[in-house]
Amino acid sequence: CGIVAYVGNREALPLILKGLKRLEYRGYDSSGVALLEDAKLNIYKKKGKVSDLEHELAGKNLTATIGIGHTRWATHGEPNDVNAHPHFSNNRRLSIIHNGIIENYASIKQNLIKKGHVFLSDTDTEVLIHFIEDIHLATAGSLESAVKLALKEVVGAYAIVVMSVDHPGQLIAARKGSPLVIGVGEDEFFFASDATPIIEYTKDVVYLDDYEVAIIKDGKLSIQNLDNTETIPYIQKLEMELETIEKGGYDHFMIKEIFEQSRSIGDSMRGRLRSEDAHLQLGGLNNYLDKLAEADRIIIVGCGTSWHAGLVAEYLFEELARVNVEVEYASEFRYRNPVISEKDIVIAISQSGETADTLAAIELAKSKGATIFGVCNVVGSSIARATHAGAYTHAGPEIGVASTKAFTAQVTVLTLIAIAMAKRKGTITEETYRQLLIELEHIPEKVAKVFENASKIKEIAFIFTYARNFIYLGRGLNFPVALEGALKLKEISYIHAEGYPAAEMKHGPIALIDEDMPVVFLATRDSSYEKIVSNIQEVKARKGRVIAIVTEGDKLIPGMVDFVIEVPQTHEMLTPLVSVIPLQLLSYYIAVMRGRNVDQPRNLAKSVTVE
Ligand code: G6P
Repeated sequence: CGIVAYVGNREALPLILKGLKRLEYRGYDSSGVALLEDAKLNIYKKKGKVSDLEHELAGKNLTATIGIGHTRWATHGEPNDVNAHPHFSNNRRLSIIHNGIIENYASIKQNLIKKGHVFLSDTDTEVLIHFIEDIHLATAGSLESAVKLALKEVVGAYAIVVMSVDHPGQLIAARKGSPLVIGVGEDEFFFASDATPIIEYTKDVVYLDDYEVAIIKDGKLSIQNLDNTETIPYIQKLEMELETIEKGGYDHFMIKEIFEQSRSIGDSMRGRLRSEDAHLQLGGLNNYLDKLAEADRIIIVGCGTSWHAGLVAEYLFEELARVNVEVEYASEFRYRNPVISEKDIVIAISQSGETADTLAAIELAKSKGATIFGVCNVVGSSIARATHAGAYTHAGPEIGVASTKAFTAQVTVLTLIAIAMAKRKGTITEETYRQLLIELEHIPEKVAKVFENASKIKEIAFIFTYARNFIYLGRGLNFPVALEGALKLKEISYIHAEGYPAAEMKHGPIALIDEDMPVVFLATRDSSYEKIVSNIQEVKARKGRVIAIVTEGDKLIPGMVDFVIEVPQTHEMLTPLVSVIPLQLLSYYIAVMRGRNVDQPRNLAKSVTVE
């Protein structure tokens, strides 16, 4: 979900609506605003997209200069007008927007019902605001103390902003486990789930920490913890530029972000690598190189696409740095009783830096003494702050829900870490080390070369637009790429797709193959080339329709398959950085041809701050 709030001298509504649109990638099944004007709360909520809400509000004279807004990704209760936020209290004098989940809401609700509270929605959020109201009325203290007392009783995760008819000019926000950024302007303040709704107005921001409460009162910001201890707000300068969060002439963010990769991969390496004097340094990990070299094992945790980047890294760390690696879904890892020691290093990979399961996995590993590194894209995010050390991916804001440039940036940074570790351990020769650095520097131009095939990929997409299933096969480093290709396709086109290690095909998926089944092979020229050629033949013998991603100049495969897409030759260890690009493009074009909402596919959210 995404939250936006404003208090100042401007009209709040246009600003909130614009902010919600920027946050829509976080959830978009319903949205709403509450505006406070003339001692009255005006609340408007609408199922559907922010534009539906905007439509509803068009022509209304709403000039309030304080308000809160929300775009939702449903957890409790179906997406409809009533369940949309903001929610309000029993006496309708308090309203709230909320990200996260209040786990013990049911018992609190029961108590409140006994006291006569009437609930209109099925949400946990409505319970929270009624609970705050109940405490406020019972204690007769300040509103902020009521908020704090309520939050002390709450189990779960939240980022909230509360607004009250009885306290005009006042906003109270708090966070635990869900992100919240405060923009500090001149006589105005902004709250948002990330900085994108804010950067147009101010670059001065404060990132709220867990268990902190921010209070805007009499035009001033104060930050306190739940026990009333005050801290001085730490104001940071945002480095993000406005154009990085706009579409810049492209039809969708996703295609803009795909094409950005020839630059963003370079950004991930900038200042870290220089082949001419064999320089490789990751500032954030400088003090941890010995720890890395002595590690018994690396455990990589992540979700979705980030988990796929982890699978690529498994090959890299094992091959180059000769260390044991385990790659885990954060959601599974956190609920096992994993065997972890102080000699383990956990690498948490996350684009948003906010994924609840990944964050919980980190806390678990930390409690067992492991050293935790983060590979995150969002600077200042919760995961970046929860880790001992790390390296940002510097891909720039990724808005398309299906991850593209964040994936290649993750793989790039993980490659750098693996090489740095290998160098320190002495597990690669000086020659391989230099060769890898040189090849890495060439990756951006090789990625740009793949883009030259975009129109060919579009034609192939056209042919397969109405396929019902897809299989993606690869071996070695290209196996995770196959998984990622299948994920991209299902996420945005809603075509069922499966990724498999090519050799596993004969143990099951081969039964699916007939003349209607498109099979995408990652068949670049590497150590498993001959084997993959045999796998292609197995599919062709059963009349499957094969699209092969091959290395430029391949003479053999084009004669065997239906379609080929060439990618430039690179060092085998770096193959995923080029071989994934045509798969991103293929899924994008298919989804566009099917008329899908590419940037905001149904049911998905970019940042999953609930477990
Ligand atoms: C969601 C997104 C995916 C992403 C995953 C992990 O499911 O839709 O694109 O890969 O979360 O997110 P993270 O921010 O931790 O990389």
